[in-house]
Parts: sequence; C-alpha cells; structure tokens
Amino acid sequence: MPTWDERFREGEYPLDPDPAPVLRQYIGSFPDGRALDIATGTGRNAVFLAENGYTVDALDKSREGLRIARENAKKRGVDENCSWIRGDAHTHEYPDEIYDVITIQYFQILDRFTDIKAALAPDGVIYYQTHLRTTDSVDRGPSERHRVGANELLRASLDLTVLHYREFTTGTEGHRGACAQVIARNSHGHTQQVPREPVAED
Ligand SMILES: C[S@@+](CC[C@H](N)C(=O)[O-])C[C@H]1O[C@@H](n2cnc3c(N)ncnc32)[C@H](O)[C@@H]1O
Repeated sequence: MPTWDERFREGEYPLDPDPAPVLRQYIGSFPDGRALDIATGTGRNAVFLAENGYTVDALDKSREGLRIARENAKKRGVDENCSWIRGDAHTHEYPDEIYDVITIQYFQILDRFTDIKAALAPDGVIYYQTHLRTTDSVDRGPSERHRVGANELLRASLDLTVLHYREFTTGTEGHRGACAQVIARNSHGHTQQVPREPVAED
C-alpha cells in the first residue's frame, strides 16, 4: 500500500482539487477569524479558507502533501495566511475554543471528534465530509473500517447545532463514492439564527 507521500508524489491524488461545493455555499454564513483544516492533503479547503480571509492552521501527516498545499497557497497569494503543520491528527493537541471554522474532508477522525469540537470557539462552525458505508456499489474511497456508518456523523454532531446533514452517492465516469456530510455550529438554545438555504449542489 503506497504511503500518502508516494501517492501525492506520483500524482495519484489530485494535486489541486476544487474546494468542497458545500463549503463554497455556506462560507458566507460562517464567522470570520481563525480556521483549522485537518488532514489538509494538497490544501483544497485550507487555501479556499485563506482566500476568504481566514488565518488557517492546516494539519497533515504527509510532508509531500503539505509541500504541494503550500505551492497552491503561494500561487494564490495566500501562503502568509497559512501555517502548515506536519503532525498526526490522531494524537495532535487540539487547543480549546480557538477556531471559528474547522474543516475535515475525507479523513476518518471520529476517535478525536470530542476534542476537535472542543476546539471550536463559541458559534464556531465545523464542516466534516467523509466516506460512508453503503450497500450501493462504490469504488471510490477507503475500506469499510475507515468509513462512517449511516447517521454516525450526525449522531456525533448532536451536541452542536446541526445546520446541514446529508448522505449521498457521487461520482463521474463510472467511479462512484458514498459520503456523509455535516455542517454544525457550536451554539445552543431553543431559538437560533439559521443560514439561508443555499442553492442545491451535487
Ligand atoms: C483522502 S486525503 C484528503 C485530503 C484533503 N482533505 C482533501 O479532501 O483533498 C487524506 C489525507 O489524510 C492525511 N492523513 C492520513 N493519516 C493522517 C494522520 N494520522 N494525521 C494527519 N493526516 C493524515 C493524508 O496525508 C492525506 O493528505
């Protein structure tokens, strides 16, 4: 099994993929400030957050991924707004209540989800998209044990205000994947502000 460094070096994973469509749609309703992108890879969401004015901490275990992410940030003139942190997200010390936005895409880290949620500032927002176990035929993504089960991500987010939750299959050219996606805010109470529903996306 190739390492992530090898996969990035061999161009097996997209070197400059687009940010998540749902993140684009909701970004205008997120609080400004400081962001954390966990398992940033080549930095698609970290760079997008920096372009939207955030000061970004981007964490990944892969030196090669971080190198490419940094190049992508430089090309877009936002490298100065990013800190590239090489480390293991499973053992990382997440600071309490400092991030206004946290993003995680295609990385299974529910074992640390409690600590990650605790890193949200009051009213901070988390976006998490990961691969889903499904009976549908899918050929994208990791093995079963690295996928979440039905509603697992939703249940793990229920101590936050869930603004968006979706389970879906996606893909093109015969390659299909299955994902769970949540956007949730660190807020509480019977009456709260809710974002305007964005235009439907794939
Ligand atoms: C499927 S890629 C996703 C990258 C990026 N979030 C995206 O959506 O394009 C998974 C990433 O997780 C990183 N990774 C794997 N294990 C990790 C760990 N224990 N700590 C931090 N990053 C890790 C890999 O280096 C890789 O960049």
